[in-house]
Amino acid sequence: MSKIDTRLNVSPVPPDEIFALNGAYAVDPHPQKVSLGVGVYRTDDGKPWPLPVVQKAEKELVVDDDLFRHEYTAIEGDVPFLGIARDLMFGFEGKQGEEGAKARIGSVQTVAGTGANHLGALFLAHHMKPATVWLSNPSWANHQTIWELAGVPRKTYPYYHAATRSFDFEGMMSSLESEAQEGDVVLLHACAHNPTGLDPNKEQWVAIADLCERKKLFPFFDSAYQGFASGSVEEDAWAVRYFFNNKPDMEMCVAQSFSKNFGLYGQRVGAFHYCTNRASTTIRDIVVNNLCHLIRGEFSMGPRVGCSIVKKVLTSDELTADWHQDLQVMSSRIKTMRKALYSELVRLRTPGTWEHIIQQNGMFSYTGLSPKQVYALKDKYHIYLLKSGRASISGLSQKNVAYVAQAIDDVIRNEN
Ligand code: LMR
Repeated sequence: MSKIDTRLNVSPVPPDEIFALNGAYAVDPHPQKVSLGVGVYRTDDGKPWPLPVVQKAEKELVVDDDLFRHEYTAIEGDVPFLGIARDLMFGFEGKQGEEGAKARIGSVQTVAGTGANHLGALFLAHHMKPATVWLSNPSWANHQTIWELAGVPRKTYPYYHAATRSFDFEGMMSSLESEAQEGDVVLLHACAHNPTGLDPNKEQWVAIADLCERKKLFPFFDSAYQGFASGSVEEDAWAVRYFFNNKPDMEMCVAQSFSKNFGLYGQRVGAFHYCTNRASTTIRDIVVNNLCHLIRGEFSMGPRVGCSIVKKVLTSDELTADWHQDLQVMSSRIKTMRKALYSELVRLRTPGTWEHIIQQNGMFSYTGLSPKQVYALKDKYHIYLLKSGRASISGLSQKNVAYVAQAIDDVIRNEN
């Protein structure tokens, strides 16, 4: 496209695929339309689900009538919230005597997971100057944008083996082994890899940690689904905790989002944790102080309401137990819908193999549908998913799963 007439040096950039699709779905009047695009939880009626525990916490917050609830926080954010967020991520909840481990972690509040990824990228670009950041191929498209804006050159490591629809562990390891250089950043999805739904197993995580340590790479974890993927906050934090506890000489960081696991999408609740390699509150405080410098120049401080809700829940044993139940509701409904879609495709004898739908983990299925088949699903059936074939399983329900399976069956047979 040609430049527009302005004093600016701008030309159009492609719209964000996920949110463009969401917009197109919203204005589609077709009665049977199905949204499998953006990664948000939906009930079996296709409705958003404000978590019951969040509703309880909101009521309690109103009753508390906290005079300070609309005031500024510190630049690093709500300090008690940050301790709670860190403890959830690294597994310190309710434990005594973790002071040494805690002294290794500098935490700040961010504008949800995107903000945590962005702040982390900017911080490393300023203070570590990595030659390259390695992203999985494929990855969440926004990772490319975030690191491009931070001015760090991007390369990709193989992640997905299309023929077997499985995690390409050998490809990832051999590419990083031969090409990554000391000081490079490796972006890792803590669990529920977006978009493939394929995670390394524990043995593979151990090998990835060893490789990062040996080659002096810097692991950057994106944790957007803790508790949402498996229903267990421990299980979904396993990789982060393994790296942190077993490789204390290796620095690393974590971008933590509360959008999915608390259903607080629009509240923008998140944290960024930088882990140093020694238990020094002096170093930790300098890290936080430099993060605060970036935060102050960009947005002064993270928003308050969402993190008050998370804080309310995680400081009450009763509400925490309720939250764990809500996580079970979400993760098990998604697993049920995976099975339902798989069974329908098998029943229809849809050409191909479909086990990957039940083997993948978390919000998404990387279906293996081609862009042509994806377009046909939208044009003929008003079913919306990403052109990579990524489908947000939560958009499926008992009511629409047969319709979606039949539509997939049609495009598989007729759109090659
Ligand atoms: C997604 O991948 O659909 C979600 O994580 C929403 C987003 O911000 O892209």
